[in-house]
Amino acid sequence: MRTTVGIIGGGPSGLLLSLLLDRLGIDNQVLEHRSRAHVQRRVRAGQLDHASVAFLRQSGLAGRLDRLGLPQRGMNLRWRDQTRRIDLEALSGGHSCTVYGQSALTCDLTNTLAASGRSPVYGAEDIRLSDPESEPHIITYRKDGAEHRLECRFVAGCDGAHGPARRLVNGAGGGSSRRLPFSWVGVLSETPPVSPELTYAYHPRGFALWSMRSDTVSRTYLQCGPDDQTGNWSDDRFWSEMQRRLGPDVSFSPGKVTERLMVRMQGYVADRMQLGNVVLAGDAGHTVPPSAAKGLNLAIADIRALSESFRKLLFEGRQNALAEYAQKALKRAWAGQAFSWQMTDLLHAPPSGDPFENRLKLTRLDTLLASPEQLRLFCRDYTGAEAA
Ligand code: PHB
Repeated sequence: MRTTVGIIGGGPSGLLLSLLLDRLGIDNQVLEHRSRAHVQRRVRAGQLDHASVAFLRQSGLAGRLDRLGLPQRGMNLRWRDQTRRIDLEALSGGHSCTVYGQSALTCDLTNTLAASGRSPVYGAEDIRLSDPESEPHIITYRKDGAEHRLECRFVAGCDGAHGPARRLVNGAGGGSSRRLPFSWVGVLSETPPVSPELTYAYHPRGFALWSMRSDTVSRTYLQCGPDDQTGNWSDDRFWSEMQRRLGPDVSFSPGKVTERLMVRMQGYVADRMQLGNVVLAGDAGHTVPPSAAKGLNLAIADIRALSESFRKLLFEGRQNALAEYAQKALKRAWAGQAFSWQMTDLLHAPPSGDPFENRLKLTRLDTLLASPEQLRLFCRDYTGAEAA
């Protein structure tokens, strides 16, 4: 098989890139080592910021998102057992977010590709990339017991944190990373949301987040130990801890838990997002702690810029278009990382339970919530207003 852009990874980044390249008339093929069902079930955060929604809409990919997405014009912040609604829309200059599960977006993109008779190669095992400078680039993989080769001019690594592209471009152990001393235990349940808008809570016992997928299904998270396991969290323990952290004036009656997961909190930014004819996008180039729900949004911003760079390179002969993409993507990744860490730090309790640190955190929250200037900046970052 031969193509112009070989795309590794059939998650939202790879699928979106494939669709955008198709529209530009740039030949491409997606390879995904998992099955289609696995990719669509993959559980991830579910909030799109203003810039992502605007781009998907402009690309004609927001039909179902506009019907089923849950607009977030504000958010609730709880601390010291009080709730304050932050008017995201007013404070950010008219921007808002939309709750829409990543798996729903993956489904939409897959269906749109399928409607034009295109499909990723699923179940492509043992994907190997050749030297980044090689022309053409040869990708080999195994499927149904047979060896296959894909010859391409460029490779787009949209294969996440653990795929081969990050390693090829940055070497094993390359890039900057840090792990936080806590994780999140997350639960998907048939429980109506406590509010139509997300609730983020700071409590000396730890952070809590109440998000949702519909008006009958909630996605909720609690800060827990760094190496904690879902098995340590019975339904009773989870919900009573949630009640303690949200405080007595938030009431809910927990429904059936349908899924449980652990989210390790870490950040990573690659040293490089391009080497020779190989470029990285999304989680392959950077991962952020989920506190500000920036991961998918950074990926969408990458893909938007990357498709434009392929256009400049292939139709306008701009030879350094991919290098320029990589520079800008790294800058955006660090900005996303900085905001994600700021929000993480703001809302997570010190694992040591140190009362001095706890007072510092509460004071920082008091200051943020009392300062219209700080709140405006916070809301612009959170809604992706700057990127729009
Ligand atoms: C989610 O709905 O899964 C979600 C929302 C907001 C976050 C993180 C996760 O900051």
